[in-house]
Amino acid sequence: MSAARLDIERVRKDFPILQTLARGKPLVFLDSAASAQKPQAVIDAMVDLYSRSYANIHRGVYELSERSTAAFEATREKVRSFLGAAETREIVFVRGTTEAINLVASSFGRARVGEGDEVLITHMEHHSNIVPWQMLCDEKGATLKVAPIDDDGSLIVEEFEKLLGPHTKLVALPHVSNALGTVNPVKDLVRRAHAKGVPVLVDGAQAVPHQRVDVRDLDCDFYAFSSHKLFGPSGVGVLYGKAEHLEAMPPYQGGGEMILSVSFEKTIYNEIPHKFEAGTPDIAGVVGLGAAIDYVEALGLDAIAAHDHELLEYATGALSEVPGLTLVGTAPEKAAVLSFVLDCAHPHDIGTILDQEGIAVRTGHHCAQPVMQRYGISATARASLALYSRREDVDALVAGLAKVREVFA
Ligand code: ALA
Repeated sequence: MSAARLDIERVRKDFPILQTLARGKPLVFLDSAASAQKPQAVIDAMVDLYSRSYANIHRGVYELSERSTAAFEATREKVRSFLGAAETREIVFVRGTTEAINLVASSFGRARVGEGDEVLITHMEHHSNIVPWQMLCDEKGATLKVAPIDDDGSLIVEEFEKLLGPHTKLVALPHVSNALGTVNPVKDLVRRAHAKGVPVLVDGAQAVPHQRVDVRDLDCDFYAFSSHKLFGPSGVGVLYGKAEHLEAMPPYQGGGEMILSVSFEKTIYNEIPHKFEAGTPDIAGVVGLGAAIDYVEALGLDAIAAHDHELLEYATGALSEVPGLTLVGTAPEKAAVLSFVLDCAHPHDIGTILDQEGIAVRTGHHCAQPVMQRYGISATARASLALYSRREDVDALVAGLAKVREVFA
């Protein structure tokens, strides 16, 4: 069944920033993988909370606090439904994907990984899904194992499987690579890991803006994502964890909210998910995330996925025609990321010339230095697409790259 199509011009009107100029030219925003722009509905939800319903949550017996708490907890239910999780207590609010992974490494990882054990990741990780595991392995005398990728950026599944050994205590992998766009066969990888009794954390930061995710179908143990890549505010993210894991895990941070009772002799911890939510959270941020989820659900995840896929194909074809351009990351299963190098200019020079044309791309190592090392380069330019991107943006990029060639070739 084909998905309803997005009306892109109508969608673009929902994003006030897309009506603005950059360097005096119409903004061409091609950096949504770094952080996506926000629809008016998200901005309004946060302004509305601060204007009419704001108070601290879970603490007051008065009406404002009840309203604020209800808005905050309504988002937990929206996230549960968005991810297909079984229960709201499996949804923990954190600052972002990075904090979610650090939470699991510090709590679940510390309890599970010991000397001589192994943690398995892939060669396409963002630094956020490398460093917390490296820190854990250093502390415990464990070893970080890395499953290789092939030249097009696909994970070599047979090698991944071989690395799942008797000492593997945990697997962490990305659903979608931020630097290459590769979409991993997560369900299959989870099945292979579980067959050997190994739990799996999935970094979903680059997946949730582009496709429907169902954590129960994937059967992953943990799934992390950030609000700001899903058209919501920055500073908020989600850790999904199976209840059995979250219940068994020690707290990550101590403080208010995560306790049932405190004395100098002993503290009784709160129920999940509150056990992992120490301190006053970003209340308006969580409410903004709820509005972002409402927004993408109203457009339809299938329609978004179809749009992103069609535009990626168009962009791949268009960039392939640019003289001297090499795409880095050409896996058959890809999401809306186009990393590339030019034979005549460094990525930073590409980014600077494009900026003069009002075109925003990211340049550098994209917080994935091992990916760059895998391809023997130090950086790429990266154009990333979102539900508001259109063919005209890709055409502007191609025209901008012609200007880069005029300057440098
Ligand atoms: N992780 C973000 C990116 O890929 C910041 O750009």
